[in-house]
Formats: sequence, structure tokens, C-alpha cells
Amino acid sequence: MCGIVGYIGNQKAHPILIKGLLNLEYRGYDSAGIAVIDNGNICVKKDKGRVENLLNIEGINDLKGTIGIAHTRWATHGKPSKENSHPHSDNSKNFAVVHNGIIENYNELREFLKNKGYNFISQTDTEIIPNLIHYYYSQNPKTNTEIDFLKAVKSAVDDLKGSYAIQVICKDYPDEIIVVRKDSPLVIGKGNGENFIASDIPAVLSYTKDFYLLDDNEYGVIYRNVVHFFDSSLLEHNKAIKTIDWDSSSAEKCGFEDYMLKEIYEQPTAIRETVSSYLRIEEKCNFESLNFTKEYLSKIDKIYIIACGTAMHAGLVGKSAIEKLCRIPVTVDIASEFRYRDPIVDSNTLCIFISQSGETADTIAALKLSKSFGAKTLAISNVIGSSITREADYTIYTHAGPEIAVASTKAYTSQVVLMNILAIYFAEILEKSNKNDLDNLKREIFDLPSKIEKTLDDSEEIKDFAKKVYTQKDMFFIGRGMDYNTSLEGSLKLKEISYIHSEAYPAGELKHGPIALIENGVTVIGVLTDEHLTQKSISNLQEVITRGARTLVITNQVLTNINFDYVINIPCTNPLLSSIIAIVPLQLFSYYISKFKGLDVDKPRNLAKSVTVE
Ligand code: AGP
Ligand code: GLU
Repeated sequence: MCGIVGYIGNQKAHPILIKGLLNLEYRGYDSAGIAVIDNGNICVKKDKGRVENLLNIEGINDLKGTIGIAHTRWATHGKPSKENSHPHSDNSKNFAVVHNGIIENYNELREFLKNKGYNFISQTDTEIIPNLIHYYYSQNPKTNTEIDFLKAVKSAVDDLKGSYAIQVICKDYPDEIIVVRKDSPLVIGKGNGENFIASDIPAVLSYTKDFYLLDDNEYGVIYRNVVHFFDSSLLEHNKAIKTIDWDSSSAEKCGFEDYMLKEIYEQPTAIRETVSSYLRIEEKCNFESLNFTKEYLSKIDKIYIIACGTAMHAGLVGKSAIEKLCRIPVTVDIASEFRYRDPIVDSNTLCIFISQSGETADTIAALKLSKSFGAKTLAISNVIGSSITREADYTIYTHAGPEIAVASTKAYTSQVVLMNILAIYFAEILEKSNKNDLDNLKREIFDLPSKIEKTLDDSEEIKDFAKKVYTQKDMFFIGRGMDYNTSLEGSLKLKEISYIHSEAYPAGELKHGPIALIENGVTVIGVLTDEHLTQKSISNLQEVITRGARTLVITNQVLTNINFDYVINIPCTNPLLSSIIAIVPLQLFSYYISKFKGLDVDKPRNLAKSVTVE
């Protein structure tokens, strides 16, 4: 949610800031703005609406300053408007601040500042920050040491409750940017004589691959040639650089019309990369970052898999794989529910957290909670050094490359494959499953990329079906077992990017209520990939056909005597992996519907790529 960009160097700041904001557009926002120190003054240019609009603001192209901060806002306090857009300044216009997150005690601090004579122009929680900094700054006798600015920022931050990633510039210190974070992402890209700040690595990946990953409650003071780091007591420390191996073109569209389509087509590569990092035929699985022993795994009495949205759907597949191969009970929880439902967690519980971004606020909070109960925590993320990976006891990565489209595609299939590999790893340690069965599953995993390629090659039929139904208001997805998991993910994709209301149901559950909604012309999509359950699901599809539904079936079975409107055939695989192939036509289905409706596929309304607030 929201994007932060900063630049200090020798080039004009504003084009770099705007380019960075454009790269972060996928995170979701409603307003944009920049502040540049120009000729000794802080110039703020901001408005509600798209980042491109900034280019039309009077005077923006005359800015010559080489230091600046920028922001895309996803409103939490106060409607999207020019006044509420960031950056915000203090009354004296000495400081400018951009902020991602929520200041929970802003009312109290606002009253305090009002009593001291400060005025407020916006309704945001953020505006208290520059004024509070000014308040402390003006209390300090000015000694002209660089630490004054930092001390004032620290004193203000000490008063804040909530979550934040903050960048501050000050007119009196025209050669530095101060940053600090708590529960909200922020990275610093190290250049040559210039430095970049961003809430996400892809924003500045075209300038550098060397990053400092700021920790919670850590301050960075960024100059052109150097960055100093301080802890929450302002004790200075050194910080290591992480080099990111993502190619900068991987964060660009490379000829595809939309990121989502590109990412759907990148799935064979994403799976190959993820698989080759951990899986070998004829050898045991190897996760260098994990050191689970037979003794530890035998003592675990349950596993929780905790995540949000699509990542939670990948967790559902993980549950089936772990339960089948290891016979350990697994519960899948939505992170925002888990954290408030007093879960039964102790040192015999293993908690696995799945998050593409590694920055999802609810998932991180659930992780912290599990740790506090003494559970071991394992993070699965796609972003190196993301917050969740720094909180967890162990981390393993999907190697999907940057995922830009809000609708998750390649991250999902990579998570599903990684959950299967993790289940095999546990089973090998526990010596629970038959070696031949595990070897066969491994072979099936290696075959997945070519099977996905085959499915992608046959995309015309799904496009054709999408064209026939894109004007509909409601759709249903049904399946049993693993196919129900796939249905849930297919339905979420459709809602997110096509704004069509859809529901996913276990096929056998329809007649317990939702079948009342089936009438002439309603579309029902059936996923049928498990031969043991196919006939049962076919009967359920017949029930809806009888009531006038139009049907699309995704199957790897040979179906005879059928009266479905459309059938999409996909390659067979092990049932534990079927979702990885069956989801592909459903991703394309949502994509084409969104295109036929003329919607913004990559940036659907109201959604953000990284959900960093509760
Ligand atoms: C997926 O299409 C969604 N945009 C969303 O459900 C997402 O999966 C969820 O917000 C979790 O994100 P994370 O994997 O980055 O934690
Ligand atoms: N809470 C702040 C606001 O509403 C920041 C929102 C954001 O993270 O973009 O302005």
C-alpha cells in the first residue's frame, strides 16, 4: 500500500522520483506528490489522482534540486484530495515528510500541537509528524551539528504509536534525507555518489542492485556518498548490503500488454527456478536454511499455515500435501482471523507463514504472536529480506522474480510447488512416505513447467469463453478436494480484476443453499482433475445444468456423454499438484474478462499489491 521513493545525488531529483513512483503504481494509491529542496527551499508538488498528473503541475519541470522525497498515498485518514496528499510540511515549511502507515495516537498528538499553536491543513494522521519534528527541533538549542535534525526526528518518532515508514527532509540540512520504519517496508538502494530510497526493490532496480534493508526502529541518514545507520537510541552501527539478483527487465513488461499476462506466461520459468533450488531426483530435498531434525518433526503435534488471500489458498494445497505425506494435522488460517482468535499454539506447534511480498501486516502480526507463544516460525516469501523473513526463525524463498500485477499468479503457483517440496522434505526426514511415491511426485514436479507451457499454448478457447460471458454479474466455481482449492483461487482472481461477483463452493455443498441462486444463463465453472471425484462433481454440474446454468469445465480427464458448454483440457499430474496447472486457464479467464470489460488489469480498483495496514 502506498509507495515511498527518495533520491539524493547529482542528477535532477524529480524525474527519478516520478519514475520510481510509476514503478510503484502497482501497490495501489489514490494521490501522489513530491518534495524537492530547490534553491534552499522545500518545493512540494502534489495532487490526488495518477502519478502522471504530477507532470502537469505548474513549475514541476523547473525544479533543479538533486534531493527529494516522493509518495503515492492510499488514504486511511482523510479522503483523497490535494491537501491530504503527501508530502506534508510543518507550519514553518522547514520540514517535509512522507509517511506510509497509520499513526494510531494522532488525535492526541494533534491536540497537543494545537495547544502549542500549530495549525493543521489536512485531515491526515501524517501531518502531525512534520509539526512534531518542528516542535522538538525548535526546543533544541541549535548547535549546527548534523545530529540536531536527527534528534528532532527521533524525539517525534518516540511519540508515535502505530506503523510507519517515514522519510524526512529539512531545509536547514539540504544534503541529507532521514528515514525510519516500524512495521512498514523501506529499502535504501546504494548508487555511486547517489542513493535511492523506496518501499519496494523494483522501484529503483534499474539504478542499483545493492540494497540496505532497513530494520524496524532503525534510522538511516542518507547522504550522497554514504549512509549512516542508528538504532532507536541513536547509537550508530554498520549495516551490510544485500545484492539482489533480480534482473531489472524482470520488473518491466517486456512486450506484454499487462504485467499480469506477462506473469502468467512466466510461470514455467518461476516454477523451474523454484524447483531447481531445492529439489533433486534421487537425492533428498535440501533446504540449506532449514535444519529440522527427525526428533523435532516427530514432536510437532500440529502445523498452522497462516496467510492472506492467494497465499492462503496456496496454504490450503500445502495442508493437503503435508497431511498426505507426513500425517501431521495442519490447520490453515487467515492471518487477520488467527491473530485475534486466541489460537492454541505452543512449542510443539510449527507455524508456516506464506507471503509473496513478505510485508502483509496481518501475516507479520500473526507471526509475532506465534513466536510469543514459543512456536517455531517458518516464512515462505518471494522477496529477499522482506519484513516477514526477518521476523521468522526460518525462511525459504519462492524464486518467482518480482510480481508487479496486483493479482497474484506466478507467486501462487510457485508457493504451491514450494509447499509440495516442503512436504516431501518433511516426509523424507520423518521417513513417513514410501520412497517410490516421493520419487514419482518429484518427477511430476519436474514435469510441471512443460505442462504449464502446453496449457498456455491452448489459451484461445478460454479467451473465447471469456468473450461469451464477460457481461455477467455473478459466477460460481465448484470442485471437490484439491479442485475446490483451485476454485477458491479462480474465484478470487475473477473478483479482483473483473469486478464480477463470484463464489467458490465445494461441489457437494451447492445443494445446501447456493443452488437457489442458479437460474437461466448463470455461469458455473467446474474444476475436475481428480479421477476419484470426477463422477461426483459431474453429477453436481448436471444439477446446475438442469436449472439453466451455462457451464465451463476444466479437466484432465476424458469425459464422455457430457453436455457442458465448454471443456478445457489440461495435462494430467499428481492430484497434489493439479492446482498448479488447473489455475492457469482460470487466471487467463479472469484476465480476458477484465480486458473485454476495458478494466485496468494490473491495478484493480481499491486494491493494493502490498497490504501493509490491518
Ligand atoms: C492476490 O491476487 C491478492 N492480490 C491478495 O489476495 C494477496 O495474495 C494477499 O494480499 C497476500 O499478499 P502477500 O502474499 O504479499 O502476503
Ligand atoms: N495514514 C496516512 C494517510 O492517510 C498514510 C497512508 C498511506 O500509507 O498511504 O495519509
